[in-house]
Amino acid sequence: MRLPGLIDPHVHFREPGATHKEDWDSGTAAALAGGFTLVLAMPNTQPPVVGQASLDLALRAAGPKARCDYAQYLGAGPANASEAARLSGGAAGLKLYLDQTYGPLRLDQMGLWQEHFAAWPKSRPLVAHAEGRTMAAAILMAALYDRPLHLAHVSTREEILLIRAAKEKGIPVTCEVTPHHLFLCDADLPHLGPGRGEVRPRLAAPADRDALWQNLDVIDCFASDHAPHTLAEKDAPNPPPGFPGLESALPLYLTAVSEGRLTIEDIVARCVTNPQRIFNLAPQPETWIEIDPAYRGEIRAGNTFTRCAWTPFEGYPVRGRLVRGVLRGREAYRDGEVLSAPGAGRNVRQTPIVCGGEEPSRPAPRAEER
Ligand code: DOR
Ligand code: ZN
Repeated sequence: MRLPGLIDPHVHFREPGATHKEDWDSGTAAALAGGFTLVLAMPNTQPPVVGQASLDLALRAAGPKARCDYAQYLGAGPANASEAARLSGGAAGLKLYLDQTYGPLRLDQMGLWQEHFAAWPKSRPLVAHAEGRTMAAAILMAALYDRPLHLAHVSTREEILLIRAAKEKGIPVTCEVTPHHLFLCDADLPHLGPGRGEVRPRLAAPADRDALWQNLDVIDCFASDHAPHTLAEKDAPNPPPGFPGLESALPLYLTAVSEGRLTIEDIVARCVTNPQRIFNLAPQPETWIEIDPAYRGEIRAGNTFTRCAWTPFEGYPVRGRLVRGVLRGREAYRDGEVLSAPGAGRNVRQTPIVCGGEEPSRPAPRAEER
């Protein structure tokens, strides 16, 4: 069965700054192995992407390494509202960290949020990490400034019902949910262990997870929030929050299809057409994936390309898998091998450049082979 190439509007690659966790090569290889042909990368790198110099640094790293298409977010800082707005055309969007996260980008003062709500162009994607009451405040800002706002990784019943109510009032909000908040809950924490279970937003109660499924019509996008940290880091004191997710997402969604909890059309809406609309992304020409919906297997970290080499879904039984991926007319993935070369991915926020000779394809190594 053939589907359009999937889009993940929320991934964390760690370049610049922490390439032992992930870099543009390993992260985009993981994306292609997961069926994603376009990813939007978050700005909480080291240094964080908050202005011209740091955006250039991230894009210079991405250019020669990315194997799939991409764009880079800017982060909202305490003093960069006008510079970020000036750079908005070259970025995936602006990310507002309004709650506890990984890295230094959290904005606490509402006055600083307002500077960004006022300056960032209404036609460009604005994304907030805002949980619980913070989400209510962010939605009020979207209403006051009469501008679209996309709410990242919604994880609780109260949040999804708040978004339903805001949409019913005509407030221009959209939202995404992660596979880990759909398929895991706080009852999984004992077997994950204290460090490996750390993620923001936290895994919530079974009733929260169930409320996400019951309000699927309110969920515009699925987003992995792929946030790789090594097992040594996850198992040490002060473990950083985050789960890798690019390579487990599609098998989980296909498993839900086999159980009658999702349809293929639900996946395409939330992983292709809605992200295209919300994030102003053109359809990728001659780009598709092929899936085997009948496959039965288990999620295993040993088969993955992400450098962090673990998964919170280890041993999870799945039905369905990716078989092949084609990116702009060239085979990018087949049967466990990433065939798209480093540098084959394009920054979709850059005006097209005429390419010279094509690099020969070099398969990406899996985590276990490095
Ligand atoms: O669990 C998380 N990990 N939540 C975030 O907000 C950031 C992310 C990361 O970058 O590791
Ligand atoms: Zn994130």
